Amino acid sequence: MGQKNDQAIKGQQKIEWVRIKMPVVQSISEKWIKEKPFSGYLVAACLHVTAKTANLMRTIKDGGGEVALCASNPLSTQDDVVAALNDIYGINTYAQRGESKESYYNNIHKVLDIKPHVTIDDGADLVNTLHTERPELIENVLGGTEETTTGVIRLKAMAKDRVLKYPMIAVNDALTKHMFDNRYGTGQSTIDGILRATNYLLAGSNFVVVGYGWCGRGIASKARGMGAKVTIVEVDPTKALEATMDGFQVSNMANVAPTADFVVTATGNINVVDSKHLRLMKDGVIVCNAGHFNVEINIKSLAEESKQIKKVRENIEEYLLKDNKRIYIIGEGRLVNLAAGEGHPADVMDMSFANQALSAEYIIREGKNLENAVYPVPQDIDKEIARLKLISMNIEIEEMTEEQVTYLSSWDGGT
Ligand SMILES: NC(=O)c1ccc[n+]([C@@H]2O[C@H](COP(=O)([O-])OP(=O)(O)OC[C@H]3O[C@@H](n4cnc5c(N)ncnc54)[C@H](O)[C@@H]3O)[C@@H](O)[C@H]2O)c1
Repeated sequence: MGQKNDQAIKGQQKIEWVRIKMPVVQSISEKWIKEKPFSGYLVAACLHVTAKTANLMRTIKDGGGEVALCASNPLSTQDDVVAALNDIYGINTYAQRGESKESYYNNIHKVLDIKPHVTIDDGADLVNTLHTERPELIENVLGGTEETTTGVIRLKAMAKDRVLKYPMIAVNDALTKHMFDNRYGTGQSTIDGILRATNYLLAGSNFVVVGYGWCGRGIASKARGMGAKVTIVEVDPTKALEATMDGFQVSNMANVAPTADFVVTATGNINVVDSKHLRLMKDGVIVCNAGHFNVEINIKSLAEESKQIKKVRENIEEYLLKDNKRIYIIGEGRLVNLAAGEGHPADVMDMSFANQALSAEYIIREGKNLENAVYPVPQDIDKEIARLKLISMNIEIEEMTEEQVTYLSSWDGGT
């Protein structure tokens, strides 16, 4: 068997392995094989090319759609999954782990070449490229969906500046997405990525989480579960208060930098760990990022201040400062859970991708009636996904009686 074939088969095994934990996506596939809602429609997708994403692509194909896929981050691609998608599942996939910025954008263009009716994005690089470099494609597009917080922020900024030219569904904002994916998914997989990269002990360590949003909360709670002493750095007073009442230490970056063993950013913001903080850190500190883009740690200034930079382990680079202090960066400051791990567990991606699939179908049905704005996932889709997930977990919930429905919609039934 050829090497390429070996890789494709390895990728197929990964794709089938995670599918077991994606019952909601599977149930959508089963329905769509009969209904074919995407028949005649072309879908351009820019997502982390992992085994879970492969199953979303298969579901859209099962629904009759033609799909092309590229990566939403140069370091998150699983090459064996790319091989399997291309050679076994017949889904054109353009991505390579560690590809250059030029190749990354070339691949976005290849995906756009299909002249999509629907775009599925994670971070809004595809949508941005389409709007700025391929505007002639816009008239064909019915709408798009966006996976992550950072992408939704970018799209809302485009809508505010009136440059967004087709409707968008903010998949990230569905409850069945961010409450589970950002919190439990990023929480577990970030710790997993750090441990795979370092094999260091978390118990007893000083573990700093920058940002106490959905991702930060998840990371902090899992690190605490492993016995780390967790400190939160926040700019939002309400979130800082929440972290305090959740039992975490809260401080600012300058205060925590000198004693930190691990620093993880999850803010979606730029230079939250800046040169002035890096200079304060102790020898051997591990610094990484779980936010969407590799902008949260000021690696450029760290490189400028280093007398030597070398790879010391798979996915870890050592920056040797002039005072001989060593700072270790995991995965070039890209999302640590994907750069050094395999991303979120399939169980949560099942819900995120069910939202993607049903929102893309909604765009096919309703896209032409929507404004060029960012819309939430329709509530009935969000609730239906929660219902299907509970069924798959054999969990029964209570149902309201008629009396209770009436009571909750009335105003005259006080004491
Ligand atoms: N790694 C993954 O797999 C994954 C999954 C989901 C989301 N994300 C990304 O993670 C990032 C965070 O997402 P989220 O859903 O938690 O967002 P969020 O908006 O819920 O939380 C971000 C938090 O960061 C805080 N913050 C902003 N600037 C800060 C600063 N300078 N210092 C300290 N705190 C600061 C904000 O106040 C906010 O509480 C985004 O870029 C998102 O796209 C990554």
